[in-house]
Amino acid sequence: MSNRLAIDGGTPVITDSIPGGMHGPSVIDEREIQAVTDVLRSGQLFRFVENSQVASFEQEAAGRLGVNHALMVNSGTSAIICALTGVGIGPGDEVILPGYTFIATAAAIVGVGAIPVIAEIDESLGLDPADVERKITPHTKAILPVHMQGVPCRIEAILDIAKRHELKVVEDSCQCVGGQYNGKYAGTWGDAGAWSLNYFKVLTCGEGGLVFTDNYDTYERAAFASEPGLPMWMSDSEWKNKPFSCQTYRPGEILGAIARVQLSKLDDILGHTRKLKKAFIAELSDNPKGYKRQHVDDPTGECGISAAIIINDDNLAKKYTEALTAEGLGAGTAYNEGFPDRHIYTYWDSILFKHSPNAAGYPWSDPRYKGDIKYSRDMCPNTLSILGRALRFGFNVNMQEEHARLMAAAINKVDDALG
Ligand SMILES: Cc1ncc(COP(=O)(O)O)c(C=O)c1O
Repeated sequence: MSNRLAIDGGTPVITDSIPGGMHGPSVIDEREIQAVTDVLRSGQLFRFVENSQVASFEQEAAGRLGVNHALMVNSGTSAIICALTGVGIGPGDEVILPGYTFIATAAAIVGVGAIPVIAEIDESLGLDPADVERKITPHTKAILPVHMQGVPCRIEAILDIAKRHELKVVEDSCQCVGGQYNGKYAGTWGDAGAWSLNYFKVLTCGEGGLVFTDNYDTYERAAFASEPGLPMWMSDSEWKNKPFSCQTYRPGEILGAIARVQLSKLDDILGHTRKLKKAFIAELSDNPKGYKRQHVDDPTGECGISAAIIINDDNLAKKYTEALTAEGLGAGTAYNEGFPDRHIYTYWDSILFKHSPNAAGYPWSDPRYKGDIKYSRDMCPNTLSILGRALRFGFNVNMQEEHARLMAAAINKVDDALG
């Protein structure tokens, strides 16, 4: 193959398009169809029944995660809301989260009446522990790290900070279902964790979520937060905490039935994506000239659904983007003026401008909040610098190892020429 870049008239490395598609939806087969059909035929769509699909999913997921309790809800956002409520976060509290995540993470904090405090990411593309330390105030009550794109963040460093400052840790593992960090599942390190089962995630039931924890009180409070009628479905004597009324985030049996089948496919999905990433890394140059690889604390446990390279400077990042696209590998920096990755705090207008659903301006104007949080688009310059130079590549179950190798070969070729 000629070394001349495709952008200069050479032959592109990738001539046939790389298959796309979502993980969970791509593996739907007769088993999900049968499971849904069975629920429909039973006419039993409500979760509080004997032999409930939702309850079985909760047990199976808890068993898989190695936690004492799991609660299925109707979305990842509601899972985070219930987890935060479960650990006792509410009005007046500040919660630190990374500036690189879906807005739902911040929205969940606002949803419990607390204040999101946006912190920097580092070259792991996860929360930067050093900036977490800097952002702690007397009002901080929790840290909400996010395991983005299947790669667990530096959770041990974050837990160490939380321990020293007596903070709760709720892990947003919505994008890291099945990912592990040093042999323990992402989401199970802190006080509570959350999965999303929406259409784009590793496992899907269309829309859904899971809260999980080892702590019984956290679980019970999360359950009250998800269903004000809970004490009516299960007798009072079963509850240790006083029930309270919140929202209804109850999932139906169809969601539970699909989620069970999908969970049984987790090993196959991640087995495949991890193989793809391994092939990609094996092909990728060990001594790149123009970029650094995303830092991954534990490469063996991550989901293998993405890889990122961080180019040395902005100008070069633009050149890599154009050259890689010409080589047949669609690329763009996460933060750019064209088609950016919207998982960046700069796009969270409702948070940055403190838009409240009510005229009182809560949670920011809540009299119990004694802090003075300020937001601006440039408040996390390191995050913007890293994401402005980060090129992300996805691996999905429809790809073969050869696709992953070609992706790496395209990067090697561009790096040889431009790096
Ligand atoms: C990191 C992260 N957190 C939370 C959520 C919210 O999940 P859901 O869409 O299921 O509410 C998402 C969904 O995209 C996400 O990517």
